[in-house]
Formats: sequence, C-alpha cells, structure tokens
Amino acid sequence: MGGIIRVGLIGCGNIGMGAHLPAYAHIPEAELVAVCDIVEKRVQAAAECSGATAYMDYRQLLKRRDIDMVDICLPSDLHAEASISVAEAGKHILCEKPMAHTLEAAQAMINATQKAGVKLMIGQVRRFDHRYASIKAQMDAGKVGRQVFIRRAERQFLPFPPEAWQWDTKRGGGVILDIGVHATDLFRWLFGQEAVEVYAVAKSVREAAREAGSYDHAFITCKFDGGGVGFAEASWAYPQGFGGALYAQLDVVGTEGKIQYADKDTNPMLIYSTEKGHELPRYFRFMSTTEYAFEEEIRHFVRCILDDREPVVSPQDACAALEMALAAQRSAETGQPVHLPLQEETRWRESTLA
Ligand SMILES: NC(=O)c1ccc[n+]([C@@H]2O[C@H](COP(=O)([O-])OP(=O)(O)OC[C@H]3O[C@@H](n4cnc5c(N)ncnc54)[C@H](O)[C@@H]3O)[C@@H](O)[C@H]2O)c1
Repeated sequence: MGGIIRVGLIGCGNIGMGAHLPAYAHIPEAELVAVCDIVEKRVQAAAECSGATAYMDYRQLLKRRDIDMVDICLPSDLHAEASISVAEAGKHILCEKPMAHTLEAAQAMINATQKAGVKLMIGQVRRFDHRYASIKAQMDAGKVGRQVFIRRAERQFLPFPPEAWQWDTKRGGGVILDIGVHATDLFRWLFGQEAVEVYAVAKSVREAAREAGSYDHAFITCKFDGGGVGFAEASWAYPQGFGGALYAQLDVVGTEGKIQYADKDTNPMLIYSTEKGHELPRYFRFMSTTEYAFEEEIRHFVRCILDDREPVVSPQDACAALEMALAAQRSAETGQPVHLPLQEETRWRESTLA
C-alpha cells in the first residue's frame, strides 16, 4: 500500500539525534513532522536539521491529529509511561529497548496498545543488522547442523557522567538491562527456542557504576528448552579508546560447523580522536551498521503500518528478552541460577517463535 506515515519523535538525545532522526531522511514513506525534548537546545537542534516542529512537552505533540506514529527515544524508565500515553492518543509506537523495567509495565504497554488497536514494536535493532540476519539465515538453512551454543560479546566504553540516568539502577537498570537485552533477544531469535534458566555474574567496575550501585560488566549464561546455550559478555567497563566504541562478537557453534563474526573483520578502520571520539568510516554497508540498522528497523515498522502487517519483533518477543534480562539481573544479585518463566502467567511465551 502507498501513503506517508507522519511521525513524532520524542527524545532527541544520543540515539534520537544520532540514529533515529537521520534515518527518516532515507525513508520516503515516512515524514518526521514533530520532535520533542525537555532540553530546549536539543529540540531546537532537532527541529532545525529536520524541519519538524519542536515541542517541549510530549502531551502537546500527542494532541496533533495528523501524527500517525510516535518514535520513543526516551530514557528507559520512561518507555512504559510514554508508550501508554501514545497508545491512548491512538498512534502507533516504535519504542527503544529495553521495553520496560518490569514485566508488569511491559504487560501494561501491551494492554494499552491492544485496547487502542495500535501497533507496538520495541527497537530490538540487532535483528535489523544485516550481519546477524545473515547469520540467522545460515543457521535456519542448517549450515552448522544442530545448534549447540552461541557466544556473544558487546563491549563498550560508556562516556556518560556519573549523574547520567544510564548508571542509575532505577532509571537505566545498568548494563544487563541496557545491553544484555540485545543479547537475550539475539539468543532467543537465533536459536528459535525459549529460555528456561539464566545465570549471571556481574560487577561494578567504573567509579560511576560503583557509586550508583549498578552493574557495568556482566557475564550472562542462558539455557534454552531445545538444548541451546547462549553465553554473553555485556560491558560498559572497557577503558576509553580500547579499540571500538561498540565492539561486538558472535560465534555460533553447531554439530556440523560454526559461524564466527567479530567487529574487527567488518569495521577494519577505527578512528579515535579526543575531539570526536570514535568514528567508524562507512565505506560499504557491512561497516558502521549504526546508521543502516536503525534505518531498516524504522522502515520495517513504517511499512507494517502502511500494509497493516505485524512487525517481525512482536511485543511478546520484547517481553521475553526483557524477562531473560531481568532473570540475569536477579541471578547476579543472588548468585543463584534463575528459572523461567519468572511469572506463572507469561502470555508472551506461547506463540512468538517461528
Ligand atoms: N538500540 C540501541 O542500540 C540503543 C543505543 C543507545 C540507546 N538506546 C536506548 O534509547 C533510549 C535513549 O537513550 P539515549 O542514549 O539516547 O539517552 P539520552 O539521555 O541521550 O536521550 C534521551 C533524551 O530524552 C530527553 N527526555 C527526558 N525526559 C523527557 C521527557 N519527559 N520528554 C521529552 N524528552 C525527554 C532527554 O532530555 C534526552 O535528550 C534508551 O532507552 C536507551 O536504552 C538504544
């Protein structure tokens, strides 16, 4: 179906300005018409470079009848509240990960969107990254035989000041909820299996993490119902300039073969300067995936609205990834493995895997 989806973007910080806003310029089916942030200079900068109207209160943005979809790039603790307001305003929702901080909040998001009859997709962006999509296609085609284990690493230096919400256990949830949720979603998606047990060891390495009492480094092991085992390192604790702003690695091992991927292969050039930080020059699509993966994610959601299709990442998928991350958090705190499901009635576990 043809047509244009008119979009409001809420949250013009790192990911809103750095990845979501620029993506709309490459999506002809979408028009960014409104931007919102509580920090005036951020929203003015977003309005200036996009031509969208600036708002400092998202409730004002939601009053606009011509907006079909809202893209939420707010700090993680605000996802549920904002998504519910957007649903009540009758608009479709693309919301950044993690879906929420509790399963109750995630369920409330699902209830609100079902009641309003609008679509909700959580930005589990790794699924829109060609590297991982290609690995999944090889696995599904039986290239490695029966899947045995996956080893994943996402390593970062987190440059935020100590007062930033990312370090706050109640606002950002620490590294397990913030990056660990990418790994839990990847494991579940790649294996096509549901997790039954999660065990995690986590540490507070950097001063900001220690002061906030949150984890900035974690090793997470997930056992799946089909026998798969996923092991992830999720870290913000690497020293500045360690060799990649976002270093990622993925090994898939099966009975008949393996697939290995590391950022050093696909991002061979890294430029680090004190002025600009890390830059990954973009020579071809396999490099510097930040731009295109977000673009693919947003384009997919826009097309789902236009064609009235269900997004490939269902709200139930995002709930399941969140549930695994919450189990990892609990395991890190107690030192014990945590069995899933966390709640007796977890509806999202029933029908979301192909
Ligand atoms: N998919 C990914 O790989 C990825 C990467 C980075 C961040 N994220 C997620 O994106 C979200 C945002 O992260 P970020 O790094 O951009 O954070 P950020 O702090 O840089 O940006 C958040 C913005 O929201 C604004 N804001 C706060 N409260 C607001 C309100 N009530 N109304 C309007 N604006 C408000 C802030 O002023 C800020 O500009 C987080 O949930 C994070 O987990 C995802």
